[in-house]
Amino acid sequence: MVSYKELGLVNTREMFAKAVAGGYAIPAFNFNNMEQLQAIIKAAATKRSPVILQVSKGARSYANQTLLRYMAQGAVEYAKELGWENPQIVLHLDHGDTFETCKSCVDMGFSSVMIDGSALPYEENIAVTKKVVEYAHQFDVTVEAELGVLAGVEDEVSAEESHYTRPEEVIDFTSKTGCDSLAISIGTSHGAYKFKPEQCTRDPKTGILIPPPLAFDVLAEIEKKLPGFPIVLHGSSSVPQEYVKIINENGGKLPDAVGIPEEQLRKAAKSAVCKINIDSDSRLAMTAMVRKVFNEKPGEFDPRKYLGPARDEMQKLYEHKIVNVLGSDGKA
Ligand code: G3H
Ligand code: 13P
Ligand code: ZN
Repeated sequence: MVSYKELGLVNTREMFAKAVAGGYAIPAFNFNNMEQLQAIIKAAATKRSPVILQVSKGARSYANQTLLRYMAQGAVEYAKELGWENPQIVLHLDHGDTFETCKSCVDMGFSSVMIDGSALPYEENIAVTKKVVEYAHQFDVTVEAELGVLAGVEDEVSAEESHYTRPEEVIDFTSKTGCDSLAISIGTSHGAYKFKPEQCTRDPKTGILIPPPLAFDVLAEIEKKLPGFPIVLHGSSSVPQEYVKIINENGGKLPDAVGIPEEQLRKAAKSAVCKINIDSDSRLAMTAMVRKVFNEKPGEFDPRKYLGPARDEMQKLYEHKIVNVLGSDGKA
């Protein structure tokens, strides 16, 4: 049993309370490898932003859960080396699917876990979430739960259809489970194809798809039922069209990739939404740079020569999100 406190990590409790009161959101960035982690920490340290490092089931099977945990421990020391005196870093399990997975992360030093029972019948979601909360709280580990279903397909997270969170359930759910934050469904979804072209309108000049707005009315109803309660948005990548263009111009094929417009996320960050999950945008930044180097310098075979530019671009992206979308700069 390792306590995250010994590793210099923090849980989300105080971070979320400050974010809700201050009208900003904490970035939750997924990581699977060293370059992503370096870029996240450099961006957070440079901008003095609290940050959540997320480990998904896919990341755990790709990179190994133990190795990722040690990397997060190293990240705290790296942040200090970069001059960040008191780093506010959370190590979070993203989309934990069973009690056993959550327990194993709590036991090895994660400071926050998500139990995603959103695909289960309501009462079963309550039962498993409550069990995780009872275990995690013994060690002061915070717990994110989910109500409502996000559409989208990724390696390990998939659902055919989304349905919005039902505001009439949120008081019952949070009081019965004791969860510390609640992920809701208001029209975001995972991956780089968040809307079908027929759900969007098309800019006549550029041909770029313009997606429908998020359900801010549902968010407002939830906030009314749970004043000040920390709300989480998954599936919040914006799918920057400049990266899609670079990818497509350098041998890639991402037709009609579309995300959540940044102004909608800015609006959400000012509300009780205090954690915004971003993974796909970092994948796009990395892929764009790697494809560009491969295309422009076919003789290059030193991984540092293509992963280096990818890392720099991801740092730029993370800093942009922190400053221009979430408003979490200068908060740590
Ligand atoms: O919520 C999904 C995250 O983007 C993680 O996806 O399971 O492919 O690592 P992944
Ligand atoms: P995106 O696919 O929009 O980046 O969402 C990531 C996410 O929600 C991780 O849990
Ligand atoms: Zn998610």
